Amino acid sequence: MATTPPRVRVHHLAQAKERGERLTMLTAYDAVTAAIFDAAGVDLLLIGDSIGNTMLGHGTTLPVTLDEMVVAARSVARAARRAFVVADLPFGSYEAGPQQALASAVRMMKESGVSAVKIEGGRRVATQVRALTDAGIPVVGHLGYTPQSEHLLGGPRVQGRGDEAAMRLQDDALALVDAGVVAMVLEMVPAPIAAKVTATVRVPTIGIGAGAGCDGQVLVWVDMAGMTDWSPRFAKRFGEVGAALRSAAEAYVEEVRAGTFPDAAHSFES
Ligand code: KIV
Repeated sequence: MATTPPRVRVHHLAQAKERGERLTMLTAYDAVTAAIFDAAGVDLLLIGDSIGNTMLGHGTTLPVTLDEMVVAARSVARAARRAFVVADLPFGSYEAGPQQALASAVRMMKESGVSAVKIEGGRRVATQVRALTDAGIPVVGHLGYTPQSEHLLGGPRVQGRGDEAAMRLQDDALALVDAGVVAMVLEMVPAPIAAKVTATVRVPTIGIGAGAGCDGQVLVWVDMAGMTDWSPRFAKRFGEVGAALRSAAEAYVEEVRAGTFPDAAHSFES
């Protein structure tokens, strides 16, 4: 009889850091992929607002709405049996202050069934993180390159280079920990800086383009699986699923056109 594995919870994230066990995180935007990644043993599933670029056809994450995030998050949360499920709060749903952040996060928690929300930024969102944590909502931080600020940052560029920027990053990380985050993503940060932040903070750091010194790693699943021709430098392609899917679709088209599908084995004769 198949048993349901124990659910990953906030205290497991802290334990993993204490024990030096590396955490794995992947994005997921629907129930099909969430079930596959959950069964593969991925510890955390992130309904990233990267859904804007990867699934919704936008050029950035900025147009993604809370409504869209809730629908995607709900399908991932329903499918995940073991993973700790985290949903991004999208651009425009928390920047105005703690009240707005709380309203958005409460809606996300109530309507989707995720276990935590993620917001981008450091000291500038510390009051929002505190408000959510005080309301019993686990928050994952996100520092370094923060795609919701891509216009201010001048596009996807490494953050934290140079002594001053590295110090700012470190201060932001400490402010997030003080405000109560349970983990933080470090995106596009020089590996030595990410390792230093990791050594300084008591919560797990989850890197993406931040080297091997973080407590865990996250990748956008379409990059990890090789769904498109392009993937960022830091995203290793662990498969060529896009090519496999295209071959399957081409074989289907060919067989339907040739009249070899459906055959007797795939038909009801009576
Ligand atoms: O939206 C997203 O997919 C993310 C990851 C890149 C961490 O925030």
